Amino acid sequence: MRVLLTGGAGYIGSHTAVVLLEEGHDVAVLDDLSNSHVEALNRVEQLTGKSIDFLEGDLADAQLVQRYFDENNFDAVIHLAGLKAVGESVEQPTRYYQTNLSTTLTLLDAMRKSDVQRLVFSSSATVYGDPQSPLISEEHPVGAGIQNPYGWSKLMNEQIIRDTARAWPELSVVNLRYFNPVGAHSSGRIGEDPSGIPNNLMPFISQVAVGKRLQLAVFGQDYDTRDGTGVRDYIHVMDLAEGHVAALAKTTPGVETYNLGTGTGTSVLEAVQTFEHVSGKQIPYEVKARREGDLATVIADSHRAGEKLGWQTSRTFEDACRDAWKWQVQNPDGYGPSR
Ligand code: NAD
Ligand code: UFG
Repeated sequence: MRVLLTGGAGYIGSHTAVVLLEEGHDVAVLDDLSNSHVEALNRVEQLTGKSIDFLEGDLADAQLVQRYFDENNFDAVIHLAGLKAVGESVEQPTRYYQTNLSTTLTLLDAMRKSDVQRLVFSSSATVYGDPQSPLISEEHPVGAGIQNPYGWSKLMNEQIIRDTARAWPELSVVNLRYFNPVGAHSSGRIGEDPSGIPNNLMPFISQVAVGKRLQLAVFGQDYDTRDGTGVRDYIHVMDLAEGHVAALAKTTPGVETYNLGTGTGTSVLEAVQTFEHVSGKQIPYEVKARREGDLATVIADSHRAGEKLGWQTSRTFEDACRDAWKWQVQNPDGYGPSR
């Protein structure tokens, strides 16, 4: 298939590009490089020995996007482009709604005009809001308790896509609700390259281990969990990437939704211990107050993806830490300063 990967130069997109190319698909990446580096795509090409068509630009630019659709014969789209920093979305709500909604609207219009009928969309476990149970299936209610504009923008995107599918019955959509993506390609050539101070646990731990940051702040040790720290379902980014390629095989019209996670939880302190073990470095930490909006435990029930997409994870949390460490050591400054 000829696949358009929006946001394909980013963290999840670059790993997904590797799997797509390895499985024999043609890949075009549409990205404005606002949170990524073209070097990621060069490295994907080196890793796979295959080339990517890079279509630079803003996915909200309707004219440009339509031109790209007119010039290419896409069979399917994997839509990952967007803004993703939860805290930033609270500070800049209009920017988040503007970007995360207008990109999807433009894309859907171009897909319909060009009759591209397959879409895989990057959603998030954040749509479940404040979960009623630690283990979350796709049947869990969505919306109630979402704490930030980023989370709302994901749920609104799902609604926009569902309404579009109702009006356009041939459209086939898979919404993938990711839990916590971590790790890197096992080569250490591509990985997560956060700009500034990382918001997320694993890139922060990694930067402490390599000596870029002094210590980790553990946000709360008074949760109702094994050791009092927050528990999350960390999924290796290559397992996640394989989930996207499995989702492309769906051809039936209509919308399907799948959780992508491992079904097991890891606490903050367990994550620290595992990272210390694989890196041989000490990770100093200090327990601080809870971070506003954080939940005690969030774990995916991913049975549906196993049954319907034939997808399962094959990498452990320790593998993810080892691969993230390899990436961090080989690329202490990520892909470099220019972004
Ligand atoms: P990322 O920031 O690394 O990748 C997103 C890419 O989109 C970047 O390359 C960026 O330059 C590009 N982009 C942003 N705005 C654009 C625009 N207007 N036009 C064209 N390109 C644009 O993020 P990621 O971690 O790879 O996440 C990919 C997707 O997965 C996002 O939609 C994100 O919300 C979703 N997601 C991520 C996580 C996570 O923890 N990483 C969890 C759940 C869902
Ligand atoms: N944590 C720390 N210290 C840090 C960073 C995080 O103790 O410096 C803790 C958090 O309190 C939480 C755990 O580590 O218990 C994981 O935090 P992350 O920020 O890595 O991930 P979140 O689960 O908060 O957020 C992730 C994605 C969001 C998504 C959300 C919902 O980053 O995009 O999951 O599933 F919206």
